[in-house]
Amino acid sequence: MHKSRSHTPLDVLKDKSALALKESIKNIDSYTHVRGESLYVDDVNVREGTYYSVVFDSPKAHGRIINIDYSKAEKLGGVARIFTYKDIPGENQIGGIIPDEPLFAEGEVHFWGQPIALIVASSEFIARQARRLIQIEIEELPVITTAKEAKEKGKFINAPRSFILGNTEKAFKDCDYIFEGETFSNGQEQLYIEAQGAYAEPLENGSIKITSSTQGPTAVQKTAARVLGFPMHKIEVDVTRLGGGFGGKEDQATPWAVMAALATYHLNQSVKLILNRHDDLRMTGKRHPYESSYKIGLSKDLKILAYEAEFLQNSGAAADLSPAIAERTLFHATNSYFVPNVKSTVISCKTNLPPNTAFRGFGGPQGMFVIESAIANAAANIGVSPSKIQEANLLGENDEFSYGQIATGVEAKNSWKAVKSIYNLEQIEREVEDFNNSHSDFKKGLALMPICFGISFTNTPMNHARALVHIYQDGSVGISTAAVEMGQGVNTKMLQIAAQLFSIAHHKVKIETTNTTRVANTSPSAASSTADLNGKALLKACKALLERLKAVASEALNTAIETIEIKDEIVYANGKASDLSWNTLIGTAMLKRVALTENAHYATPVIRFDKSKEKGHPFAYHVYGTAIITTTVDCTRGTYVFDAIKIVHDYGKSMSKGIDLGQVEGALVQGVGWMTMEEIAYGEDGRLLSNALSTYKVPDMFSIAKTIDVVPLETTGSDMAILKSKAVGEPPLMYGIGAYFAIQNAIKAFNPNYKLKFHAPMTPEKVLMSLYSR
Ligand code: MTE
Ligand code: HPA
Ligand code: MOS
Repeated sequence: MHKSRSHTPLDVLKDKSALALKESIKNIDSYTHVRGESLYVDDVNVREGTYYSVVFDSPKAHGRIINIDYSKAEKLGGVARIFTYKDIPGENQIGGIIPDEPLFAEGEVHFWGQPIALIVASSEFIARQARRLIQIEIEELPVITTAKEAKEKGKFINAPRSFILGNTEKAFKDCDYIFEGETFSNGQEQLYIEAQGAYAEPLENGSIKITSSTQGPTAVQKTAARVLGFPMHKIEVDVTRLGGGFGGKEDQATPWAVMAALATYHLNQSVKLILNRHDDLRMTGKRHPYESSYKIGLSKDLKILAYEAEFLQNSGAAADLSPAIAERTLFHATNSYFVPNVKSTVISCKTNLPPNTAFRGFGGPQGMFVIESAIANAAANIGVSPSKIQEANLLGENDEFSYGQIATGVEAKNSWKAVKSIYNLEQIEREVEDFNNSHSDFKKGLALMPICFGISFTNTPMNHARALVHIYQDGSVGISTAAVEMGQGVNTKMLQIAAQLFSIAHHKVKIETTNTTRVANTSPSAASSTADLNGKALLKACKALLERLKAVASEALNTAIETIEIKDEIVYANGKASDLSWNTLIGTAMLKRVALTENAHYATPVIRFDKSKEKGHPFAYHVYGTAIITTTVDCTRGTYVFDAIKIVHDYGKSMSKGIDLGQVEGALVQGVGWMTMEEIAYGEDGRLLSNALSTYKVPDMFSIAKTIDVVPLETTGSDMAILKSKAVGEPPLMYGIGAYFAIQNAIKAFNPNYKLKFHAPMTPEKVLMSLYSR
């Protein structure tokens, strides 16, 4: 498949600069990406005789299976076998948090697209043909597609949870203003470019190797072992990189990998399973839609004294990650504001949709949309700008979050002030006003959006990682961690850590694939914590090796170890360059039989959470920032453009500026898409209507802001962040929430009768209706 290469990426890095340690680094994948040489699951060299497979899934959202006739499909030439739950030697169970999800449906189906069988054939084409020959008879049962209906019918995933601070009931009595309202935010398709997929191959003695496009190699390994009735050591999972995950492959990469492994187990042959886009869209869960209600109370001077919110999470037909996502909604229910009296409750409602799952922000955005709606509603009723209320309530140092953590290193006010002065907010406001005064067919709207996002897995036991470092005898270095590269640039960050600590050239360091036999028992790459957790473990391993090498140098140079330093691949003693280079030092260490391999473990210190009290200190630190979003609405058509999005973002001390800027921009675009144009639609029968890219619109080059400016907030960083470079993967998505409110304000400027709506996404159709609503 791959053409011969004229030169390797290593050569290029070498040509450019052997020791480019100080200069800002490019994503190490960019070279193979632009040449189409980066490897994904579908690029794995398959063994002779490999089978291809397609999932047969439920054509109804809820029902009892009366009969399935596989006979025609089985007879089709090229079909090897069709596997169902009956072929599972272990447990037919893939639920991670709650064991409520079968790999293959047994007697009942609970969502449209639920896997029932795996058709394995000599080609994918034949497997797809065979799928059409399967006849299924289903006795239909009532279908629930909304959280509210599920609540009314008492269908829940688990017990509700509440976070409580102060006493809202008492506090509402002291409020000058009280407002109540309801909000809705829709789901969102992760739309990773590489669809879900896996390739399983038999190893000797019945072991199986799975190459998977997963954020969670251990989850795949553990679940495959469970379904096959294997010990975990018989399953090896390997990941080179993902063509995007965005949370959609934290849990939901697992079933496909397990199905491929199941077929391999029975056939003793390699099996590939790669979903096409239609199958992927139909069968996998998305961001959770939320139906929420709130009550907000303020004093005359616009201080929020009390806030209550109830979040109805549309969890879908099984738990998947819903309980953890629900939890994060509560953690972010007050965004970057200090509210002394809070009561927030989340209810995970069971519906007949595919189990909804992680998506960048992990329930946080859904929580934040509600308080921003409450503030906008309060502002409209009081007759002030929402930004007045936002500004009056920004979190301060030592304020308490509703979950008991005391906020430190708070940058909420700093980023707010910075965004106002750096971008000259007053002038932007004047321009918007002038424009609106002089135009009747177009109106501008503006909104500010502060963010505050907690960094760590909310589930404390998940905050750990390991790194395995080999220094080879020629001085090159190989690194294995649990970090999965999915486009976020974590491999580049890992490489930087090692190269910087050893003070060696980037091309001397290789980041190995993520593999469960080299680094075991890992948490998924998620929660924006991958670089922190794996990077800290890596730093620890590299430091241990460096100490060992310094001891070798100290002996070789006959000087105290404290005087030894390695700079740009040269060993220095007492500040003077010696004739020992990195390479000769490694050679010497080898001759002296010094271990050139190290394995280190890191577990985030300090964090803790007591679920029985719903209090603790769950986050290592928080990430802050503020955005200004301006939009122009075409009041004849209802269409809109974003004129500019101007951000001050808290990177801490960014270790990879280009990568981190890419993360801010990418997350922002996804946030704006979620709030404005990405519209997931299910029919009342539970069928996905937005089932293709022609019916599901994501932002493109033309539909995102004309300009995006991101200025780093000058901060000291956090010691809990890797090299003080704060986590950046998810937080900036929530700047996109501002886009919703900017549009609301533009509509209001056109139509004074307009009553603000809090029903996202704000699609052009909805805008048009709102412009002319009375
Ligand atoms: N960026 C790219 N290009 N592709 C992705 O799939 N996933 C996001 C974010 N940025 C993602 C991404 C999500 S959901 C998370 S949790 C983080 O990256 C995970 O990586 P990190 O922990 O290294 O930030
Ligand atoms: N974020 C992302 N994934 C997770 C989390 C979290 O906080 N907890 C469990 N899985
Ligand atoms: Mo990200 S939603 O934590 O994978």
